[in-house]
Amino acid sequence: MKIELIKADITKLEVDAIVNAANTSLLGGGGVDGAIHRAAGRELLEECKTLGGCATGNAKITKGYNLPAKFIIHTIGPVWNGGIRNENELLTQCYQNSLNLAIENNCSSIAFPNISTGVYRFPKQQAAEIAISTVENFLSENKINKVYFVCFDDENYNIYKNILYEMK
Ligand code: APR
Repeated sequence: MKIELIKADITKLEVDAIVNAANTSLLGGGGVDGAIHRAAGRELLEECKTLGGCATGNAKITKGYNLPAKFIIHTIGPVWNGGIRNENELLTQCYQNSLNLAIENNCSSIAFPNISTGVYRFPKQQAAEIAISTVENFLSENKINKVYFVCFDDENYNIYKNILYEMK
């Protein structure tokens, strides 16, 4: 199966690319962004400072530095505003743009956190449905050996499990 669901700390994964749920400054923050910057080390911040930020829905790539992953793909999820600010489309673009960057950089494996479902308060069920359908559609036309959905909490893990299981 090209898609695998795991419960893990994304900073520990030895994959070609991990995806960071960053903010538009790309200069670090809390949540998974904070964990990735802490684990990757100061050089990550130095590279991020050269990128000039990133718009919501877009993605930019850096080296992985002290992480076991080769690359970090930083994407900016939408802040949930009740679904009236194009949040669904912007979250879809996060996954699409991250996957495109992975292909452009010859990554054969990529790991996604549950983008926007923490500080940005995107409803978890809806975010999982968008994540899975976007990745499924992408994989029907593009070749990436493995896509990991990395959950850090049980709620997200169970939501993803139910959707992926129902899909089989
Ligand atoms: N590994 C995997 N997933 C993690 C980890 C980790 N080490 N740490 C947190 N997560 C999960 C959270 O449990 C949540 O399900 O990542 C998901 C995304 O939550 P946030 O990190 O809060 O990201 P998001 O909701 O997209 O908000 C982004 O928060 O940290 C700031 O700088 C960041 O401003 C940006 C905003």
